[in-house]
Amino acid sequence: MKKLLLVFGTRPEAVKMCPLVKAFQQHPDAFQTSVCVTGQHRQMLDQVLAVFDVNPDYDLDIMSPGQNLYDITSRVLTGMNDVLRRAAPDIVFVHGDTTTSFAAALAASYQHIPVAHVEAGLRTYNPLSPWPEELNRQLTARLSCYHFAPTSQAACNLRSEQVQGRIVVTGNTVIDALHIALRRLRGDAALMHRVGGRLAEAGYPLTRLSNGRRMVLITGHRRENFGEGFVRMLTAFKELADTYPQVDFVYPVHLNPNVRRPVAEIFGIDTAQEWRVKAGVHCNLFFINPLEYLEFILLMEHSTLVLTDSGGIQEEAPGLGKPVLVMRDTTERPEAVEAGTVRLVGTDRRTIVAETVRLLTDSACYNQMSHAVNPYGDGHACESIVHAIMQA
Ligand code: UD1
Ligand code: UDP
Repeated sequence: MKKLLLVFGTRPEAVKMCPLVKAFQQHPDAFQTSVCVTGQHRQMLDQVLAVFDVNPDYDLDIMSPGQNLYDITSRVLTGMNDVLRRAAPDIVFVHGDTTTSFAAALAASYQHIPVAHVEAGLRTYNPLSPWPEELNRQLTARLSCYHFAPTSQAACNLRSEQVQGRIVVTGNTVIDALHIALRRLRGDAALMHRVGGRLAEAGYPLTRLSNGRRMVLITGHRRENFGEGFVRMLTAFKELADTYPQVDFVYPVHLNPNVRRPVAEIFGIDTAQEWRVKAGVHCNLFFINPLEYLEFILLMEHSTLVLTDSGGIQEEAPGLGKPVLVMRDTTERPEAVEAGTVRLVGTDRRTIVAETVRLLTDSACYNQMSHAVNPYGDGHACESIVHAIMQA
């Protein structure tokens, strides 16, 4: 019997690790599976745990408003010391590129516990973009001895860096999560109705789309875009909403104060009020709170296209046939760009507007992007990881 400890702390890690927790739990004869959350995110993490019905065995509960990288790193590192001694796992699993993942991997390696890295090998090789995620992911690779690479390109990167241990190409568990969400929504009309109702309560009723109206889904939260990059992005959204009154623009706004502040300033939002705000001259720009996962997937399914700087959404949206414009200058996910499902547009206002207008008006270009094949797997990544660990 192997003792496994899966450690994660933010919303995207939870989306991508909860299906893996469930997959290991299906083999109680082979694995004793425990979960430690760091609580780097609080509300946004708990939203995902609830959807997947995952109850952590340990919770470091580290989040503080406006936390910095020193806060996260030191609290995770010291908190994990104690958890690792109590749990005494045979393998610690971490995910991707967050500071939770890097610090948890470091803590495990200080106790000589093998680390398994899920979503390993993505690279820009630019330490400043994404920042600090590129460094986190590279450092975590150095600390790991199982590397679960979502694509063969990611595995290639790891091989060229001569990392220690075993590399397995698995696909991305985000597609497993997406399939779980879609199966639940499509297989249960009452649930679909409730989720639609909660979306309306959150501030965006899908009934707005019943007369052929279109909707652009927006998210943005990257540290390297804070400041001027964000201002340019927000100005672009305003221009788009004003120019296209027949299109809705919906932005579930990340809880990071560095994201909320510029949104509030540029759109005159009173931050004390609930984030359920319409803006733009035509009231077709919606700012709402972060959505629960099922609500978000339902909203994405009803969108025409997605404007984002998110990593996970770049992988999910093509799975729903939605073109993605990525508001970043680099991407560690070149497969999607090569496949044609994703286009990098940076944070220049004019480029964001021009590329969005192109997708809204040029059906050939739209069809080409929306029909490209998603390179991130078939929804069986968790199975591959479980299989590899069984054989280890
Ligand atoms: C973190 C990750 C980033 C990931 C992102 C996903 C690092 C360094 N950054 O960035 O890689 O893409 O999560 O969203 O690991 N907050 C809340 N409640 C929440 C979550 C956040 O209030 O549930 C606020 C807090 O004020 C917190 C701040 O947001 O201090 C920033 O959170 P933090 O995890 O430090 O940074 P993110 O930008 O979320
Ligand atoms: N997501 C969500 N609610 C939202 C916005 C995003 O559940 O309001 C999910 C989304 O489906 C994806 C993940 O959160 O799986 C992406 O998280 P985020 O963009 O915060 O982080 P990144 O992927 O950039 O690290």
